[in-house]
Amino acid sequence: MTTINRQWRLRARPVGMPTAETWEFAETPVPAPGDGQVVARACWLSVDPYMRGRISAGPSYARPVEPGEVMQGGGVGVVVASRNPALKRGDIVESMAWGWQDYATLDPRGTRKVDPALGPMRHALGLLGMPGLTAYFAFLDVGAPRVGDVVVVSSASGAVGQVVGQIANLMGCRAIAIAGGAEKLAWCRELGYDAAIDYKAGTLREQLAAATPAGVDVYFDNTAGPIFDAVMERINLRARIVQCGTIDTYNRPGQPDVGLRHHRHMLVKRARWQGFLFTDYVHRTDEGLERLSAWLREGRLRYREDIVDGIERMPEALLRVLSGANFGKQLVRVSPEP
Ligand SMILES: NC(=O)c1ccc[n+]([C@@H]2O[C@H](COP(=O)([O-])OP(=O)(O)OC[C@H]3O[C@@H](n4cnc5c(N)ncnc54)[C@H](OP(=O)(O)O)[C@@H]3O)[C@@H](O)[C@H]2O)c1
Repeated sequence: MTTINRQWRLRARPVGMPTAETWEFAETPVPAPGDGQVVARACWLSVDPYMRGRISAGPSYARPVEPGEVMQGGGVGVVVASRNPALKRGDIVESMAWGWQDYATLDPRGTRKVDPALGPMRHALGLLGMPGLTAYFAFLDVGAPRVGDVVVVSSASGAVGQVVGQIANLMGCRAIAIAGGAEKLAWCRELGYDAAIDYKAGTLREQLAAATPAGVDVYFDNTAGPIFDAVMERINLRARIVQCGTIDTYNRPGQPDVGLRHHRHMLVKRARWQGFLFTDYVHRTDEGLERLSAWLREGRLRYREDIVDGIERMPEALLRVLSGANFGKQLVRVSPEP
């Protein structure tokens, strides 16, 4: 086993879009586990939009990373040293508190032992992890879909969105994708979305009107911004709006998110707009995984991943997600799987 632990630490908080200089690469000795802890070697690290919020100082639902600290993030890998009787060397573990580093010291709380029978190890960061479970619980619990509902999903080809569309189909809904560019739209249609809208084409409202002649019953919003405004104009009586993400705002922290006011629509349509946070559902992980992995086994779910090789490329991978260059769940392959 190597004795070096490569890490990415926050150098300085960015203004606007981060750059490669936002973080610095460091090498430290591989740590030893404390009582009850394990040390695990990363095979895959996750790259997610929420990471932009973690390097801003503004108030959020989680503590921001301070300059000098290891960048926060999830990972999956192999236990190499254990002082926890429930986990032994060679076990596969996943944690959202991994950090951008080769070797993570993990507390029992927040560390999940991954069952390799459920799917490829990397799925623990995607379809069978935080993004897949977000899609599952946010859509089913907050979106409360009914057969025949028209469901619109923004960021529809991404880590969360591609799962929402497929579950909507499984629930007997009509699913409409909103994404950027022809390739992503084609993938959404392949997944079973009934229609796909390119919000970058400059005709969002016209495309939405054509795709949703009977209005929108569930809007699964990953973006906020102008896409939200356009969809809100089409909501039906008792529509449900799931606020899952606001990626359009992530690179403008501290600036007001100015758009249309939807109070009248909400009142007239007696609609419900509710925020969702994955961490509120962590205790239901087993229930979600059972259903998602069964659909995967039955061939009823597909999942596209976008893989970048090498821990050196973590900043680049996050910039891909924030600029829309990623196509599917963004992952970084750090070391070979056992
Ligand atoms: N609430 C929760 O617990 C929770 C959990 C997981 C994720 N989320 C949120 O869900 C959303 C999707 O996350 P994900 O992991 O599935 O990411 P993702 O969709 O795989 O990747 C991000 C995508 O966002 C789109 N995008 C970027 N800037 C945009 C903009 N200004 N306007 C519209 N679209 C833009 C890009 O796709 P296009 O090329 O299509 O523009 C990009 O590929 C994010 O907002 C994330 O924060 C929330």
